[in-house]
Amino acid sequence: MTIIDGKAISEQIKQEIATEVAEIVAAGGKRPHLAAILVGHDGGSETYVANKVKACRVCGFTSTLIRYEADVTEDELLAGIRQLNQDADVDGFIVQLPLPRHLSEQKVIETIDYRKDVDGFHPINVGRMAIGLPCYVSATPNGILELLKRYEIATSGKKCVVLGRSNIVGKPMATLMMQKTYPGDATVTVCHSHSADLVKECREADILIAAMGQPNFVKADMVKEGAVVIDVGTTRVPDASRKSGFKLTGDVLFEEVAPHCSYITPVPGGVGPMTIVSLMKNTLLAGKKAIYP
Ligand code: GUN
Repeated sequence: MTIIDGKAISEQIKQEIATEVAEIVAAGGKRPHLAAILVGHDGGSETYVANKVKACRVCGFTSTLIRYEADVTEDELLAGIRQLNQDADVDGFIVQLPLPRHLSEQKVIETIDYRKDVDGFHPINVGRMAIGLPCYVSATPNGILELLKRYEIATSGKKCVVLGRSNIVGKPMATLMMQKTYPGDATVTVCHSHSADLVKECREADILIAAMGQPNFVKADMVKEGAVVIDVGTTRVPDASRKSGFKLTGDVLFEEVAPHCSYITPVPGGVGPMTIVSLMKNTLLAGKKAIYP
């Protein structure tokens, strides 16, 4: 059994990006610039955005953090997005989700110029991904593909089960695993809260990707011997023994499942660090105008 080291791979990729940025700048090119909009003061979002800004520094990118209070009006926020769409120095930007309930996430996403949508959430990027055209692919699925690649895990003809059907992980993950590429060419099943026999489906998976956000949901009896298990879960479970007051907990009961796997991602240190690196890769592509010249 191999524990997939997302932390180590992510550090390696950030160094690769930093090297390329240094070369671009040395040749007189523009330093890539990522902007992030953060609305309110949600603890999880604060941490994610701070980590994104930190990763920008490591990669040699310029970064700008734009804050709005939680009671910002939708019009104000959309005006801020339109301003970034017009700002020639900003290559790509994100609006950290979730947003306060009075703001429409869909409206926000669709207001972002798809050519600067380094989150890959805009319908144009989602649609282009679905039909295999160059686009910004959303961070978590792209990070998982990168891990499969770096560990040379075979996917062609394999049975891949995706647990969860969210727009930002489950759906794009399933779409990518069925593409005519590597990693891909898998036979994909998507399971969710209405699936008739989820345990049976999971037991048949060569590659099991758990992304439903239910801590410790996947038990040993749901995993085929020798399966590849990718854990996308990052639920903050209260834990009084920790300084933070919580324990980041995956969707897979690691201790029980790991002995049955060929490969497994831990939480933390598996998919999580790769997500930010995917955003950095998209920002580099945006800086180079590689996808939308
Ligand atoms: N919230 C959770 N994941 C993400 C992400 O990948 N991008 C943004 N913008 N918000 C998120």
